[in-house]
Amino acid sequence: MNKEKKHILSGMQPTGRLHLGHYLGVLTNYVHLQHDYDCYFMAADLHSMTVFYSNYKEAQNYILPLISDWLAAGINPEKAVIFVQSDVPQHSELAVILGMYTPVSWLMRNPTYKEKQENVEKDIDSLGFLGYPVLQAADILLYDADLVPIGEDQLPHLDLTRDIVNRFNHFNKSGNDEKVFKLPKPLLSKFPKVLGTDGRKMSKSYNNTLILSEEEDSLMKKIMTMKTDTARIRKTDKGNPLNCPVFTYYDFFCKDRKDEASSGCKTASIGCKDCKNIIGSEIVKNLTPFREKWHEVKDDHNLVFDILSDGAKKAKKKASETMERLKEKLGFH
Ligand code: TRP
Repeated sequence: MNKEKKHILSGMQPTGRLHLGHYLGVLTNYVHLQHDYDCYFMAADLHSMTVFYSNYKEAQNYILPLISDWLAAGINPEKAVIFVQSDVPQHSELAVILGMYTPVSWLMRNPTYKEKQENVEKDIDSLGFLGYPVLQAADILLYDADLVPIGEDQLPHLDLTRDIVNRFNHFNKSGNDEKVFKLPKPLLSKFPKVLGTDGRKMSKSYNNTLILSEEEDSLMKKIMTMKTDTARIRKTDKGNPLNCPVFTYYDFFCKDRKDEASSGCKTASIGCKDCKNIIGSEIVKNLTPFREKWHEVKDDHNLVFDILSDGAKKAKKKASETMERLKEKLGFH
């Protein structure tokens, strides 16, 4: 790989088939970035273990579908390194060391920690769950990532990574030599928040998703049931596009039809069904290449295994270089 290119690391937890929120929120960024950066994309199976600790095999079953979704979206294993977190033991090793530089109070304050503790039904009162962001910092720092493409919800984790780097560098200064870790920056997509069929944020836990690999009719059916401006009851009522979740979709795939839809809605010259038909067919059309590629790869387990074993080798190489640099700095013998 080219030494001068900047580095990217990102990961997703293997928890099920990806939806439009993932696609617009991060996945399209992955696809664009792979051309200009040294990219490492990882299935974060150790992170998912915070929830799947009692049925870990289930989490492992989600790895292949996650990678198939990535390939279908256009991530190219010739360009990006695609790997599974637990295949690279350095993630766990670095997390232990970074833990020494992470005050527990920082972790307790982390908004994701509080939010999940309250909302996840399972008992996740574990050291592993509290330390989730430390493991994430290890992921990022092992690959010298300059940029980390993430969804908005992950920003607090990136802040924590930066805080840990600063604290580590503060305690491990020696003259003006190079720092072991650089400060990574987040990279958000143009569409950080995609609304689901019920008008709330699109999320698996709300059951309001449009699945990327879903067949056309099923996608179309879901879109036809989408919430619109709830104050517009009859087609003859004038609507307010700014209160309509469907209207937000124009920005994604058919910006050029947005103004026409807006005035049509405000004057009641088009109905919500018309709008949904437009949006639905645009989404179906735009996801056609994804669906086609997905059908090609979804059952090709050998292909995915080969990609992951090659990815693990490349990732281990980079991760072990970082660990050597770190151990030398700290004075491990
Ligand atoms: N926490 C991320 C999520 O749930 C997944 C993740 C794990 C990640 N390690 C990472 C994202 C490193 C970016 C960088 O979406």
